Formats: sequence, C-alpha cells, structure tokens
Amino acid sequence: MLNNHGFDLWSDRYDASVRHADESSQYPFAGYARLMNSIYGAIMNRPSSRVLDIGFGTAVLTSRLYDAGHAITGLDFSLEMIKIAHSKMPDANLLQWDFTLGVPPALRNQTFDFIISTYALHHLSDDAKVDFIAELLGLLAPQGAILIGDVCFQTRSALLSCKAACGNTWDTDEIYFVFSELQERLSPFCRMAFHEFSFCSGVIEIRKS
Ligand SMILES: C[S@@+](CC[C@H](N)C(=O)[O-])C[C@H]1O[C@@H](n2cnc3c(N)ncnc32)[C@H](O)[C@@H]1O
Repeated sequence: MLNNHGFDLWSDRYDASVRHADESSQYPFAGYARLMNSIYGAIMNRPSSRVLDIGFGTAVLTSRLYDAGHAITGLDFSLEMIKIAHSKMPDANLLQWDFTLGVPPALRNQTFDFIISTYALHHLSDDAKVDFIAELLGLLAPQGAILIGDVCFQTRSALLSCKAACGNTWDTDEIYFVFSELQERLSPFCRMAFHEFSFCSGVIEIRKS
C-alpha cells in the first residue's frame, strides 16, 4: 500500500501513467476518462455546487469543476499532490489529511452538495469503508450525492474473475469495492446505485434515504 511519500513520488508521472492504462484498456484504469466525465456531468447539472473531493490527487476532475465555478474543498495526504492541485485551483480549500482518520474536525460542521472520491478509497478496509461512508452521509446536503469512482465490481464473483484474468498485475494491497456487499451493509441508511464503466471500474452513487 502506498503511503503519502509513495504518492509524492508518483505525482509528476501520475496523469501520463493513468492515461496510458486507460487508452490501452488496462486494469486498473480502464474506463478512467469516461468515469471521470460521468461524475463531472452529474455535478455540472447543479451549478455552483459545494464539492468535497477525497484523495483529489493531481485534480484531474476537481480542477475542471473549479474552472466551471463550483466551490471545491479537498483532502489528500500527499504534499506533492496538493502542490499540483493548488497550482490549478489556487482558491480551493485543500487540506492535508489522512482519511483513514475519518473526516477532519475542520469539516465536521460543513455540508456539501457532492462528495466525490476517485481511485482513493480502495486504501480502506471494507469495514472502514462502511464507517467512513456513514460519516460522509452526515456531511451531505439534503438533495446531495456521494459519488465514488474506483476499481469496483457489482459482485464478489466479478471481482474474482477480473483478479484471475489480471494474474500477477493484480495489486493485492488494494481492497476494491464490491457493490452488492456494500449495499447490503449500507442500504438501511441510504439509497445506492452502481454504474459500470469498464470490466474493472464503476461509480457508486449514494444518497440519503
Ligand atoms: C490513485 S490517486 C487518485 C487521484 C485522483 N482522485 C484521480 O482519480 O486521478 C489516489 C490519491 O489518494 C490519495 N490518498 C491515498 N490514500 C490516502 C489517505 N489515506 N489519506 C488521504 N489521501 C490519500 C493519494 O495521495 C492520491 O492523491
């Protein structure tokens, strides 16, 4: 599992390596651009939204939303990623924070129209994902949505098929989303939908019930 220094070292090559994997339809980033565009489109339907991005990285998505006039708050634990994101979004509220510690105190009384996270929350265990999402629901405005784009599968068997097909390129340190299992645990508290973007990626949409 990469720590913040690992992400610091990856930061200047990140965009090119993701683009290459997406264009050649390779795990883990096959479907990346379409997935990001779908989240962008959902947020663009609501002008001047308050958006929280968790693990914003080089701000591939959030800088487009920033340029379109949305109010951006973000969390990331890599200082180098924050530097790149800050250069694209000088007025955004970017916090250095490790999301394994939950929501930072500075945000606990705020609400957001959209809480987004792309290719970051697979660093949490499945139990920690449930706890963190439950905490994020408390920051959601009444008509708001949490949109999580990541390596993600509808079922455990779909994950296992992809893992078998990927062979030794599969990253055993990362804990990918299985929508049906997450839904079973969270559905008493919220409404959820899964949108697939490639053989290994999808967006999980979560709204208050
Ligand atoms: C693979 S990148 C994804 C970046 C961006 N969201 C995207 O989709 O291109 C993962 C990002 O999450 C951040 N990250 C990973 N684990 C984190 C943690 N525990 N706390 C805060 N940020 C974390 C990394 O620093 C990195 O910027």
